[in-house]
Amino acid sequence: MRVFVTGGAGYVGSHCVRELVAAGHQVVVYDNLVYGHRKAVPDDVPLIEGDLADGAKLRTTLSEGRFDAVMHFAAYAYVGESVERPLVYYRNNLANTLTLLEAMRDLEIRRLVFSSTCATYGEPERVPIVESLPQKPINPYGRSKLAVEWMLEDSARAWGLGSCALRYFNACGAARDGSIGEDHRPETHLIPLVLQVALGQRAKITIFGTDYETPDGTCIRDYIHVEDLASAHRLAIEELEFGRADAFNVGTGQGQSVRAIIEAARRVTGRPIAVEEGPRRPGDPPVLVADAGRIRKAFRWEPAYVDVGEIVASAWRWHESHPRGFGDR
Ligand code: UFG
Repeated sequence: MRVFVTGGAGYVGSHCVRELVAAGHQVVVYDNLVYGHRKAVPDDVPLIEGDLADGAKLRTTLSEGRFDAVMHFAAYAYVGESVERPLVYYRNNLANTLTLLEAMRDLEIRRLVFSSTCATYGEPERVPIVESLPQKPINPYGRSKLAVEWMLEDSARAWGLGSCALRYFNACGAARDGSIGEDHRPETHLIPLVLQVALGQRAKITIFGTDYETPDGTCIRDYIHVEDLASAHRLAIEELEFGRADAFNVGTGQGQSVRAIIEAARRVTGRPIAVEEGPRRPGDPPVLVADAGRIRKAFRWEPAYVDVGEIVASAWRWHESHPRGFGDR
């Protein structure tokens, strides 16, 4: 297939680009490089520097490329920032996706895989989370993603779009060959922050809350390796059915506490990691763990990384060998 990848220079997008290319698909990346990195895109994959808000450029690119399918990663993903600047999130994540969908409808491109999030569930009634639980996001980031899921459902009925929304849990890790990995500025995610302490780039890691009703008092998350996300995307795009909007959780089904991640990082790096116990971060649910049974069954997808040590080791290989990330910011 010829696949148009928005946000293909970003963290999850760039790993998916590699997976698509390895599976024999032809890929074109469209990225405004605000958060993405040119070096994250392989040299032989065309990278068009463009913004989804630029509807004219988007349409020209889409129509000239004769694409069979779109993978849509381009979005902002900072929960805290979304609370402070909600309209920026609705503009970028929702309105720009509307622009993309209008162009796809007009050009009759009817296959789409969309990056959704477990944040669409808000504070779930129970865990592990199954897809049929109510989606009640508690921040503008989660709401902007849920609103896109609604557009996909309505588009399936109205003009035959075949789509798959993949609701990621906590994306982590780096490419097995060590060539690309996570480089967010600012960095807010637990595993890279902990590894920056191991590298001596930060003095300590602050644990956000130690009084949760969990076995060790810290929050539990489902850390899903970025290459496992990539294989889920490839399978999803190959299996799309026109006129059907589907949605799947993508996680390992195993929860790890904040303390467990820090312990794993100490083991893997062999370095001391100073810890400070701080207050809870507003909006953090105590436990978010996926029931990924549907995607396992539908696509015979299996995560390759389930062991927390292997997951942290994968991230460490990248951070240790690229202490300044891609070195472009
Ligand atoms: N944490 C700390 N200290 C830190 C950073 C994080 O204790 O310095 C904790 C958080 O409180 C949380 C866990 O580590 O319990 C993971 O936090 P991250 O910020 O790495 O990830 P989140 O679970 O907050 O965020 C992820 C995705 C978001 C998505 C969200 C859904 O990155 O895009 O899940 O809840 F919206």
